[in-house]
Amino acid sequence: MLIQENFSLKDYNTFGIAAKAKFFVEIKSVAELKAILANQDYPNKFILGGGSNMLITKDIDALVIYINLKGIQLVSKEGETVTVKAMAGENWHKFVLWTLENGYGGLENMSLIPGNTGTAPIQNIGAYGVELKDCFVNCEAIHRSSLETKIFSKTDCQFGYRESFFKNEGKNQYVITSVTFKLSTKNHTLNTSYGAIEAELAKSNITAPTIKDISNAVIAIRNSKLPDPKEIGNSGSFFKNPVVPKASFEMFLEKNPEAPYYKVSEGAYKIPAGWLIEQCGFKGKRFGDAGVHDKQALVLVNYGSATGAEILELAKKIINKVDHTFGIKIKPEVNLIK
Ligand code: EPU
Repeated sequence: MLIQENFSLKDYNTFGIAAKAKFFVEIKSVAELKAILANQDYPNKFILGGGSNMLITKDIDALVIYINLKGIQLVSKEGETVTVKAMAGENWHKFVLWTLENGYGGLENMSLIPGNTGTAPIQNIGAYGVELKDCFVNCEAIHRSSLETKIFSKTDCQFGYRESFFKNEGKNQYVITSVTFKLSTKNHTLNTSYGAIEAELAKSNITAPTIKDISNAVIAIRNSKLPDPKEIGNSGSFFKNPVVPKASFEMFLEKNPEAPYYKVSEGAYKIPAGWLIEQCGFKGKRFGDAGVHDKQALVLVNYGSATGAEILELAKKIINKVDHTFGIKIKPEVNLIK
C-alpha cells in the first residue's frame, strides 16, 4: 500500500474541490483495509468512498483511506428474486446497469446517481419514488477500532429520508465493505408514478415499459436537469427537502398557493427546497466560481476553482434567505467536511 503525502483530492470528490489530504492511501482488499485501520502511525483517519456527497471545506489533516474494493456477485436465486452483492468501491451506476443487463429489477429508478455502492446506504440514496432501502437486504461493515465485521440488517440501518444509522449514532465508526440487495427477475414492480417518468416514456410512445425503459427515462430526466459532475463540479441535491408539520404547512400554503408539495403522513408535508430557493431568486446565480445550477436550484455547483468554503458561504446565504422569506429552515444533505 502506497501512502502518499499532500495529495490533491480534486479528482476524488465530485464537487471538484482542490483540497489536500495530508496522507492518502488506496485500499483494494478487506485485508488491506484492516491493516491500515490498525496502523497507529496515522491516528487520524478519514474514509473516502465515491466522494459524491461531501463538501470539503478545508485540507484534511488525516490519512485519507480511499475504499476501492471491487466485485459484483450473484449470491443466490430464489423463485422470482435474486440476491446480489456489490463491493463498496463499485460505482453505483455501473452496478445498476449490471443488474439491468441481467434482467434484475428494483434499482432502475436510481440510475445515474453519482457515487459508490458502499456509501449509498449511509445516505439511503433515492430518486423518482424509490429509495435504496426498498431493495436492501444487508451490508457488511468493519468497525474502525475493533476491526470486527458486522452485518447490518435493514432494521439495524435505521433508514429514513436521506438518513441512516451511519449518519447518526454510527457516524465515523464503521467502514461499509459490501452491500447486498434482493431484486426481482420477473413480474417487476415498476414505479412510474413520478410524473416526469410517465411523461418521458410517453415521449417515446412506450406504454408497457421494461425496467431498461424506466432506467433510460430516468437517465434522460437526470441529464436534462442535473449537471454532470465530470463537466461541472456538484454533489447532486445540496439540501434536503424540508418536512414541515401540518399546522405550519397550512399557513405556508395559504400564502403560497402555487407551491408544489407532497404529503408525507397525516401530520407532515414535504416542500421542494428547489422551489423555495428559486423563489428567493438564486436559480442560475453565480458568485465567482460558486453557483446555483440554472436548471435545478437544489444543486450547488463549482464552475472550476471555487473553494469548499466559498460553496459553504453560498449555502449559508441561501439558508438565511429561505428562512427569512418563508420561515422554513432548510438543511444540507451533503456531508460538510469542516
Ligand atoms: N422545483 C422548482 N425549482 C427548481 C427545482 C425544483 O420549482 O429549481 C420544483 C419542481 O418544479 C418540482 C419540485 O420542485 O415541482 C420537485 O423537483 P424535482 O422533481 O426536480 O425533485 P427534487 O425534490 O428537487 C428530489 C431529490 C433528488 C431526486 C429527485 C427526483 C432530494 C433532496 N432530492 O429532488 O435527489 O433526483 O427528487 O426523485 O430529495 C440527490 O439527492 O442528490 C438528488 C438529486
